[in-house]
Amino acid sequence: MQKILMVCLGNICRSPLAEGILREKTNRLGIAVQIDSAGTSNYHIGDHPDKRTIANAKKNDIDISSLKARQFAVTDFDVFDMIFVMDTSNYTNVIALARNEADKNKVELILNRLHPSSNMPVPDPYFGGEQGFQEVFELLDKACDAIINSLNSAK
Ligand code: 4NP
Repeated sequence: MQKILMVCLGNICRSPLAEGILREKTNRLGIAVQIDSAGTSNYHIGDHPDKRTIANAKKNDIDISSLKARQFAVTDFDVFDMIFVMDTSNYTNVIALARNEADKNKVELILNRLHPSSNMPVPDPYFGGEQGFQEVFELLDKACDAIINSLNSAK
């Protein structure tokens, strides 16, 4: 079974939403994958996702209210096959913990699945308004479809 980790800064906005979207889609399709998310910072360890993220997910029929933030750990390289980061800052922080090339090769900017090699960020909605959350949802929804397509073709 493929094991996929979503990573952002706080693990309360972008990555728990990515986790929820990918879980919902793979459950619906009957694809067995293990999915988790983490933050590169320790700012929100133990916190549920941001209320605005929970509300946005709910509006899109996804329940992420019970998730709890945790910090990315070097042992995640041992557990997960793919590590999707939301922006180049997350990328730098995760790569800094990699112990070897195999670890580094697991780390990808998630929107590169939609726009290869563009290194586009999923914008951080934390300091913005409601519209930012829906924009993040739509980007992650498309990126998760692309991830699922690659899982299917790897079967
Ligand atoms: P996230 O958003 O990385 O998508 O979870 C943020 C959440 C919290 C903070 C920054 C970004 N913060 O500075 O507390």
